[in-house]
Amino acid sequence: MEVSILREVSENQVSEFLEEFAIDVLTGLSKTEKKLSTKYFYDDRGSDLFQKITQHGDYYLTRTEFEILLQSGSKLASLISHEEIDIIELGAGDGHKSELVIDAFLKEDRKVNYFPIDISVQALKQMQAHITHKSNLSVHGIVADYLEGLKFLKQKSKRRKLVLFLGSNIGNFDRAQSESFLRQLWKHLDNDDYLLIGFDLKKDVEKLHAAYNDSSGYTRDFNLNLLDRINRELGGNFNKEKFQHVGVFNPKLGAMESYLLPKEKQEVYIEELEHLFEFEAYEPLHLEYSFKYSKEDIERTCQHTGFKLKEHFIDKEELFIDSLWQVVKR
Ligand code: AVI
Repeated sequence: MEVSILREVSENQVSEFLEEFAIDVLTGLSKTEKKLSTKYFYDDRGSDLFQKITQHGDYYLTRTEFEILLQSGSKLASLISHEEIDIIELGAGDGHKSELVIDAFLKEDRKVNYFPIDISVQALKQMQAHITHKSNLSVHGIVADYLEGLKFLKQKSKRRKLVLFLGSNIGNFDRAQSESFLRQLWKHLDNDDYLLIGFDLKKDVEKLHAAYNDSSGYTRDFNLNLLDRINRELGGNFNKEKFQHVGVFNPKLGAMESYLLPKEKQEVYIEELEHLFEFEAYEPLHLEYSFKYSKEDIERTCQHTGFKLKEHFIDKEELFIDSLWQVVKR
């Protein structure tokens, strides 16, 4: 696999990252309603735990999307009839789902140029291990943030593009953030390019509750790992034992939310911030939103952000949708 590094991680950037992490933690923990950003979930341990979540029986999202892509690959390839296509994936993932999409085009004797974009060289390397070498397929990883990578590709290739934004990643943005992100995506694509985007559908709350409170405690550990990361990287003294993970559905927002609740009143010192934070017993510390969509929500979002809906690919139980959109510029 060829790799273009648009973001070199120098020692300087490592310290810039730590500074940003420290400032985000300071800002989040100083709010009246305390919160931490999900962007810091995915260190090595966090990524490993997330992988375990996606393979757990309670977390239906990943396997359902896999089934959808397995069922709908050939229909998808028939809707996008170009002889050669650039498939761009936002986030490297583990390559399994992307391979289903790629194979659907290869099966029809099309040529595919696959460009996974990820901020982490490590993530791209891991993904590469899962992508089998095939004729008519070229793989070119891009180390960059999503929009930076798309801008680079827009200059590099004039071929028709299909962007994959799978796994309900859009659900971790709130409604306003998701529209703003999709508008930026639209701007970096050409007229008639495609976006295949995964949305988790609104459903029975028990099912959602099980998915975000899995019986093996991986989601709990995934959330608590953020406290470990603060301890390790910013010199904090959080005691994880004194926090409880809670995943709840907020019906007004239409989102699962995850919180850590301090089981008793306590103080936490973070060396890097030279600051002592006070936590009241059961004062919520907000970590994550996972927004759920109805078909109408998806269609409205599509319309508001400059795309036209081509097709919904949906599983039998109507748990999840991969929706194919096309860019409209004129
Ligand atoms: C990455 N994202 C789509 C996951 C989700 O379902 O919101 C993250 C996650 N958090 C807890 N479990 C999974």
